[in-house]
Amino acid sequence: MFRNARTLVRGLPHAPAALRQMRMFWRGYTTWRFNKLWTTSIKPMDTPYQTNPLRLFFEAHKEGPGIWKWQHYFDIYDRHLHRFKDRAVCVLEIGIYSGGSLEMWRNYFGPLSEIYGVDIEPACEAYQSDSVKVFIGDQGDRNFWMRFKNEVQDIDIVIDDGGHLPEQQIVTFEELLPHLRPGGVYICEDIHGTLNTFAAYVYGLAQNLNAGDRGQENANNNERCLVYGASAVQSAVRSIHLYPFMTVVERTETAISELVSTKHGTQWQPFLK
Ligand SMILES: C[S@@+](CC[C@H](N)C(=O)[O-])C[C@H]1O[C@@H](n2cnc3c(N)ncnc32)[C@H](O)[C@@H]1O
Repeated sequence: MFRNARTLVRGLPHAPAALRQMRMFWRGYTTWRFNKLWTTSIKPMDTPYQTNPLRLFFEAHKEGPGIWKWQHYFDIYDRHLHRFKDRAVCVLEIGIYSGGSLEMWRNYFGPLSEIYGVDIEPACEAYQSDSVKVFIGDQGDRNFWMRFKNEVQDIDIVIDDGGHLPEQQIVTFEELLPHLRPGGVYICEDIHGTLNTFAAYVYGLAQNLNAGDRGQENANNNERCLVYGASAVQSAVRSIHLYPFMTVVERTETAISELVSTKHGTQWQPFLK
């Protein structure tokens, strides 16, 4: 009770800014919700449809262990994951179901990869093999993740395709994001609903990428004209990507200590000081 009151008092100075933010959130949400302006300028995604190896694997996979994916995910996967192909990469997929996606990841990342699967259903143990290790547990249970992390020290890629409830997605994200190797990629799938609470959680996280109020300004036009100490999130998170039903978070390769704005050149207009 005392802690809540103290939190409330600490938060009060930020209340006007928070209200302005909520107004702008609502404006962005309602302005574009039914606006068809952009549908005429759709461009193809990075990887051409026909050459995406994940899509080709999926299209050719007509029999055997089932794979269940939204079709537009294949281009997003390839965009963020192709740099890990044929490397000694550790990949974890939460949500095994009928085992086919674990085969797909192994095929995509190659023989050097280690593939881990997690599912709440004991029947999924059947998909353990020489190249795939299966863990049975509840992704919403922090104790399960503690046991998992004791066994698996290194993870480069997480694909959360499990229970899809926001609380499960949040617990899993909080347990595994700090566990990702530098440069790792975290994918959370099936974030459905415009006012989804996992999405709200990600928007909150993303706010920290814009933090920059501890800056030091050097008035001269020099190499380091604006220097901000990096926040904890800026130090560890390289980028956050939003796609239909999917969020991708990429970790930095090394911890960032500062963000620096630089000017090169000798001739400058006088209107900006
Ligand atoms: C959509 S299916 C996974 C599909 C699979 N990745 C594929 O691409 O074919 C979701 C799986 O998540 C599992 N699941 C549901 N709740 C879970 C939980 N709390 N923890 C771990 N797995 C869970 C289900 O048993 C189911 O096998």
